[in-house]
Amino acid sequence: MVQIKDKQFDIYIPESRILERVSELSNQLNQEYATKEPVFISVLNGSFMFAADLMKRISIACHISFMRVSSYESTQSTGKITEIIGLQESIKGRHVVIVEDIVDTALTMSQLLVQLKQHEPASLEVATLLCKREAMQKDIKLKYVGFDIPNAFVVGYGLDYDGLGRNLPDLYVVKEEDF
Ligand code: IMP
Repeated sequence: MVQIKDKQFDIYIPESRILERVSELSNQLNQEYATKEPVFISVLNGSFMFAADLMKRISIACHISFMRVSSYESTQSTGKITEIIGLQESIKGRHVVIVEDIVDTALTMSQLLVQLKQHEPASLEVATLLCKREAMQKDIKLKYVGFDIPNAFVVGYGLDYDGLGRNLPDLYVVKEEDF
């Protein structure tokens, strides 16, 4: 159990299980993008840990880029998207995989997909560690999903609660009575 500000969180997915799943996803990506020299775009801040563990297991030629969007305040999604750090390299004609920590309402990802499509990539897919299917308000294709999780607030492994908890190596879920 960990306490962050006013909330208590229980361990939900230990790091060892996360890394097993990350290895499976990277194996799949290594096969499917073997000859495509993909561009992985890590969506900061939340995906930094997932992206690092994933990329360490990617053995094919690839590029890694970062962009930052903000659509969340506290435990409620605002549905707003703010591009703070743009793309550093051209993705025109490239095979792009967006690396995200979590898809909740999917408002962020659907807007990100619209924006990135305007750059005319050869292909565009999503690799998200976590997906809250029940909370999704947009019908978007998520090709690579680590774990489908219930609609409850999680923290750790890169994800934060009011800026805290990103450094926790395991994933935690908020205690029922706190949600
Ligand atoms: P969406 O637009 O509702 O899909 O929200 C996506 C973003 O909200 C993610 O990239 C996270 O930064 C944040 N988010 C959504 N759910 C959680 C959660 O349970 N814990 C921490 N951050 C979350």
